[in-house]
Amino acid sequence: TEQKATNVHWHEGEVTRADRGKLLGQQGATIWFTGLSGSGKSTVAVALEKVLHAQGRLAYRLDGDNVRMGINKNLGFSAEDRAENIRRIGEVAKLFVDAGVIVLSSFVSPYRADRDLVRKLHEESGMAFIEVYVDVPLEEAEKRDPKGLYKKARAGQIKNFTGIDDPYEAPAQPEIVLPSHEMSLEAEVEALLKLLAERGIVA
Ligand code: PPS
Repeated sequence: TEQKATNVHWHEGEVTRADRGKLLGQQGATIWFTGLSGSGKSTVAVALEKVLHAQGRLAYRLDGDNVRMGINKNLGFSAEDRAENIRRIGEVAKLFVDAGVIVLSSFVSPYRADRDLVRKLHEESGMAFIEVYVDVPLEEAEKRDPKGLYKKARAGQIKNFTGIDDPYEAPAQPEIVLPSHEMSLEAEVEALLKLLAERGIVA
């Protein structure tokens, strides 16, 4: 999206991202979980956060509770609003990464172009972006239906529900795929930790 304000300039401070990284003993990164509602994005993010924290690493989760109830509470689920939801979350994640934090972001983020924009925002600033596809068949997510939303969507009480009458565009090249219906939570966390170590995000 275009920049609306003119005469706005980035003010460089005297403390750099690298300086903050040294202070924290880590470099920030965004771990971006995407998948259907009920796929298990938040569950694995919560479990990973716990392990990272126990290892003495600063991680922070972005998810519906602290985003759609706060900064994005004026947004719904039209394609336009979802794009804006993801764009803002991407910018917020970037700020956290610049601060040195490992961001664990869990949103359906169903549109490939929106996720690719967030990746670009990170990569052009030299920040790590790890896309995690939490991949379960729709039947499985629908069977779980933890909030009863699939049932409502099938009954026509919710419109534009991802997987029912709104598309989910699977990532073409995610850094990792987690089939949460075939893997234990422990195995998912282990796979993520291994990847983060390979990428030099955690030692
Ligand atoms: S998006 O598409 O990334 O902007 O969505 P997100 O911010 O992750 O919000 C998805 C959660 O909101 C509930 N919900 C819906 N999901 C998909 N489509 C529609 N129409 C919808 N309406 C409400 C749903 O419970 C999602 O929660 P999770 O935690 O993913 O199950």
